[in-house]
Amino acid sequence: MPISERVSERISARVERLGSGVFARNDQRKAAYSQRAGQPNSTLPPLLDLSLGSTDLQPPAVCIEAMAAALGRPDSAAYCLHAATAPFREAVARWALRRFGTTVDPEREVLLLVGSQEGTAHLPLAVLNPGERALLLDPYYPSHMGGLHLASAEPVLLPLRAEDGWRPDFDAIDAATWSQIRLMVLGFPHNPTATTGEQAWVDAAVAKAQTHGCVLAHDNPYVDLALDGEAPALLRNPAWHERGIEFFSFSKSWCLGGYRLAFAIGAPWLITALRQLKGVVDFNQSLALQAGAIAALEQAADWPERLKTIYRQRRDRMAAALEAVGWPAPRPSMALYLWLALPPAARARGLDSESFCAELLQATGVALTPGNGFGPGGEGWLRLALVHPHGQLENGAARIGHWLATL
Ligand SMILES: Cc1ncc(COP(=O)(O)O)c(C=O)c1O
Repeated sequence: MPISERVSERISARVERLGSGVFARNDQRKAAYSQRAGQPNSTLPPLLDLSLGSTDLQPPAVCIEAMAAALGRPDSAAYCLHAATAPFREAVARWALRRFGTTVDPEREVLLLVGSQEGTAHLPLAVLNPGERALLLDPYYPSHMGGLHLASAEPVLLPLRAEDGWRPDFDAIDAATWSQIRLMVLGFPHNPTATTGEQAWVDAAVAKAQTHGCVLAHDNPYVDLALDGEAPALLRNPAWHERGIEFFSFSKSWCLGGYRLAFAIGAPWLITALRQLKGVVDFNQSLALQAGAIAALEQAADWPERLKTIYRQRRDRMAAALEAVGWPAPRPSMALYLWLALPPAARARGLDSESFCAELLQATGVALTPGNGFGPGGEGWLRLALVHPHGQLENGAARIGHWLATL
């Protein structure tokens, strides 16, 4: 009997719950468009992919040089056990003291991660039992939901509303539900609404976590990329030492997304639990990559400021270009994304966020992210990533404008 007939192809319920839905379909449409545009006789413009937060901007040379210098060391090729990450964890503790004025124990309160996505996705497995409830804001970053599904946890969604400036109203959840919530996962500056948020919002979450005895996870890869005001941080609230964990990344502030470098700072018991879990899944990133991360923290701390100048210009020019073609584009308070309501003409035609993206891509070659990929609260919205030079973005706005005029 052929092996395929003997082996059951049943996958786990938790993987089924993950789905791949909106993003997979968007990817397939992008690939199909690129194939058509790449045909020898095609007159289609090339794909302009504004659907991913993967930047065209480059990391600081000092990081790459530090990695390159360490690549040839034998210990860079070896598995890196926790003890060997000490220089990295010490650099993180110094950074946190400079950045937030908080004292961090590098041995007990810091953990190296393979991206903040990895850390936030693994955390529910470390702190929740199957069926336990966890709070997410809606819209949410997709892997926050994915992490709950992997842990067979039960999500509770707290809707964010444009009319509230995307401020979470934690009092909208009743006391009985609060008493069941074991974990809250949130993050300001917030992807996808591109809202920096306020320290008071994070402090309100801390207060709820304290009252109800739940874990507060704050995913903060954009902490250095607030364009207006100062980004909130869990580390500014001393209660983090008790029941908080905050995730930081080198992907956005230092443009090192492909190198998969991030870290968590948190209450010792949470760091211990996540470290124990990760011990089953992976060893740490190579010492060579860690050398680049240390260089970022210690020698290129001003890099995000430079990026902000570029993103601010992209934001302002792209928003103005979209407005010029009739698509209202509020200026977001954080870098990297515009969060756009469906244009009136698209609503009038009955398009939802995904059918709008599909038709836009087909007609113009411009790819956006449908808001429903970020949860039910994202329906009616589109995310546009400012990950190309402003000339290309403006070209994209002109392509969009021609198509909108035909609706
Ligand atoms: C909120 C949020 N968390 C995590 C990530 C992933 O970051 P990393 O590259 O550190 O895994 C992103 C990337 O877009 C993000 O927006």
